[in-house]
Amino acid sequence: MSNDPFTAPFGSLFGDQMTVATLSDGHYTYGGAAQAFENFSLHPGTHALHYGSSCFEGLKAHRQVDGSLAVFRVDDHVARMRQSIERLRIVAPDGSVLRQMILDAVEANASFTPPTPGSLYIRPTFIGTTPNIGAAASPSETGILYVICSPVGDYFPGGVRPLTLYVETKIPRTTPQFGMVKSGANYVMALGPTLDAKRDHGADQVLFATGDDITETGASNFFLADDTRVITRQLDESFLHGVTRDSVIAIAADLGYEVEERPLGTGELIDWAAKGEVFLSGTAAVIAPVGTVIVGDARHTVGDGQPGPNTLRLREALTDILVGAAPDNHQWRTTVAG
Ligand code: COI
Repeated sequence: MSNDPFTAPFGSLFGDQMTVATLSDGHYTYGGAAQAFENFSLHPGTHALHYGSSCFEGLKAHRQVDGSLAVFRVDDHVARMRQSIERLRIVAPDGSVLRQMILDAVEANASFTPPTPGSLYIRPTFIGTTPNIGAAASPSETGILYVICSPVGDYFPGGVRPLTLYVETKIPRTTPQFGMVKSGANYVMALGPTLDAKRDHGADQVLFATGDDITETGASNFFLADDTRVITRQLDESFLHGVTRDSVIAIAADLGYEVEERPLGTGELIDWAAKGEVFLSGTAAVIAPVGTVIVGDARHTVGDGQPGPNTLRLREALTDILVGAAPDNHQWRTTVAG
């Protein structure tokens, strides 16, 4: 397999250090330094393997134009990870502990950061480790919290290209109570519909619109844009509160777009495709243009099928902030040694 982050599959390469804390008796113990990246030894009855008591985060560190290294919106990702752990009914670590684990992992793996447009993808992960295959109705009492890093290029193979979305109106992405939890279970639930849409329609992603309520794709949030407006689904507990989604909203407002957070249906999407732009946002996806939406058996080309000017403008504004080519007006960057 390739060792080059720009040709290897996203997330398949790893730095050689990790940070690890353990949870027991309601407390997280972190030794305060990175250690060698290594396998865990898990009891076959581990709670996370049987009852899904696991969750994760995804954030990035970027090499800056001045040569330094900065993590993007670390505190927002820490807050979301704490919320996910709490939704597993497990005590969350202090935000300051998880924050330090992330920064220590990035510093220890700094030399793995590829040059722009690549980045160091950071994956904080929690697994409940109570060894009890009868504990379906009780939370894991012990756990491992760890942070690993992966040098990455583009998430969607083929770089910045217009994606094809299949709009799924019947099968939900996940359950209402877990929509905003970043748990592996949500992703595996979206996998079947995504593979089916790839096979049957050549789609890159499924846009979940259960009951004609557009929320998100399996791996990113969803936006409409034109020369004056940026529109996305209003937040509730049914889908992931993307940190990049929030960044796009702030950047769009800074650039003078009117931002609308409100319900979106397939009828509006079809009408919008004829005249406007559609894009996805996510830590992995950044801002990814959509060129085709498939609703039922009908394929609708978005604009001329190519990335639109507003999508590219927003993408450039975001990437300029990510790599320190634009001022950090929102205090989103945290500089790390390396
Ligand atoms: C992210 O954007 O960080 C995600 O977690 C999506 C994942 C499918 C790579």
